Amino acid sequence: MDKKIFITLGIESSCDETGIGIYSSEKGLLSHKLFSQIELHSDYGGVVPELASRDHIQKTLPLIKEALKSSNIALQDLSGVAYTAGPGLAGALLVGSSIAQSLAWGLGIPALGVHHMEGHLLAPLLASSKLDFPFVALLVSGGHTMLVEVGGIGQYKIMGESLDDAVGEAFDKTAKILGLGYPGGPALANLATKGTAGRFDFPRPMTDRPGLDFSFSGLKTFARNTYLKYPKEKPSIAKAFEIAATQTLMIKCRRAIEKTNFSTLVVAGGVSANNCLRQTLDKMAESLDIDVYYPDPEFCTDNGAMIALAGHYRLLSGQSNDDYEIQIRPRWNLEELQPV
Ligand code: KG4
Ligand code: ZN
Repeated sequence: MDKKIFITLGIESSCDETGIGIYSSEKGLLSHKLFSQIELHSDYGGVVPELASRDHIQKTLPLIKEALKSSNIALQDLSGVAYTAGPGLAGALLVGSSIAQSLAWGLGIPALGVHHMEGHLLAPLLASSKLDFPFVALLVSGGHTMLVEVGGIGQYKIMGESLDDAVGEAFDKTAKILGLGYPGGPALANLATKGTAGRFDFPRPMTDRPGLDFSFSGLKTFARNTYLKYPKEKPSIAKAFEIAATQTLMIKCRRAIEKTNFSTLVVAGGVSANNCLRQTLDKMAESLDIDVYYPDPEFCTDNGAMIALAGHYRLLSGQSNDDYEIQIRPRWNLEELQPV
């Protein structure tokens, strides 16, 4: 194989998904594999950290073998290994980090810890080869809700974030109240398609004052109270929740765009798979005459491809961990990242 081609292996293990991706400087994403632990945790209604770590240990190496096979390359063809160093569950992160460092050490290639949210933020690049900097990014996942001013890779300024529940968490908690399974976001979105818009009107939290921060914990309480009063109207409650959450996100995105004067919005993270959110933001983008980019639906939720991609840019620029040290950052501020 031509040595000038740089091939990065990416390992994601921050929560309840084991994800592997292989990214090539010549051909882009060669392959990616994913094992979701949803079934493992569903009896508990949420992620059990010890079970998550144990499962990552079992799945990571077999998935790497599968990904290499699908990519038609050998372990020795890899040029670098990237893994999610944080934020996330410490035990789960340690699994990905240990495997990445050991592999890289054995192969004599660099290893690098990647920020999970940078992976999400850059995921639209898996589909299209370019994103014009600067842009505003709306990151919406199970653990984070953030508006970020993005000057370039690694140049992040947080403009606003959730003061309590992340929007994905609010979807999950509301779904639980309505008796839907875990994780509830997709199930709630599905139920909402059967609801009547306007039957209930939920608040748009923190939109009546200036600023770009969010608060979503009140919405789930509103959903609970409405459900106690109207237990037979689950689909319309789901609809009202979804509309309120997406309108709130849209109002803050519009403010962020107006504040920066940027003409591009990137939306990523698990909740960016939501159709109602996409329709709402598409409409807003049209009225403001700006571009909006989303990852392909399969790369909205956690995956290894986005970690391979983010790691790829950084490894190519010469960044790597010192001395194959097993480094994790369970809490890690996006603004602390080094520019590329
Ligand atoms: O990015 P992600 O896979 O994991 C984290 O980094 O947290 O996001 C998972 C979150 C969960 O809260 C899940 O319910 C939500 O994304 N989610 C959705 C949809 N698909 C996933 N929420 C609303 N609508 C969806 N279609
Ligand atoms: Zn995520």
